[in-house]
Amino acid sequence: MKERNPSGESPEKKAAGIAAADLVKDGMVVGLGTGSTTAYTIAELGRRVADGLNIIAVVTSYQSEMLAIEAGITLTSLAEHPELDLAIDGADQVDAALNVIKGGGAAHTREKVVSRSAKRFVIVADEGKVSEGMDHFVPIEVLPYAKELVSKQIRELGGEPVLRLASKKDGPVISDNGNFIIDGKFGFIEDPAEMSFILSQLTGVVEHGIFTNVDEVYIGKKDGSVEITKK
Ligand code: A5P
Repeated sequence: MKERNPSGESPEKKAAGIAAADLVKDGMVVGLGTGSTTAYTIAELGRRVADGLNIIAVVTSYQSEMLAIEAGITLTSLAEHPELDLAIDGADQVDAALNVIKGGGAAHTREKVVSRSAKRFVIVADEGKVSEGMDHFVPIEVLPYAKELVSKQIRELGGEPVLRLASKKDGPVISDNGNFIIDGKFGFIEDPAEMSFILSQLTGVVEHGIFTNVDEVYIGKKDGSVEITKK
């Protein structure tokens, strides 16, 4: 169970999310990630925009779009700005080599596109996400039409495929791209780069949640401090 204060805020996420806002400078085109940690970054950038910071941003989900609009941040698209100065996003697990697993919020496909479009990709996370190695399940976005085939291929790789459900009543989670999410349980992932390559080859997979392109990680601690690690 993660420690939270009574207001529902996470001091660790808040510390990391706000600290990374310092990286955003006047004139930048910024990629805004999805999730509760990036929400702090978006809110902080909104405050700085109100104080005169001049930026435009590309979002990674409808969730971050709503937050950015609420924060008063001007949005653009990858069609208009294919190259971003910086992307800031959250993570579900971060290993010692700065490999990351993402997709707990089903947004990893757009998050990967945005991170690969950025000159610099920065992760913000609480210390609970840090791990020596990778053993988190891997969120895999799949074409609904191919869900059985992808599940079979995951089993052939020794993994256990679990279709992500919104609830038993509501059925599968649908991504912003209209696809399903299969969470692949592989246990300990010895070589994240190799696993990333293998999963990318599976027929019916749109995108998986292993990211090997992180430049820098901001980890928020319970005492409010932030540890910054660069690749
Ligand atoms: C969204 O699909 C994810 O990749 C999130 O960025 C990740 O789950 C981190 O979320 P939190 O910041 O809410 O922990």
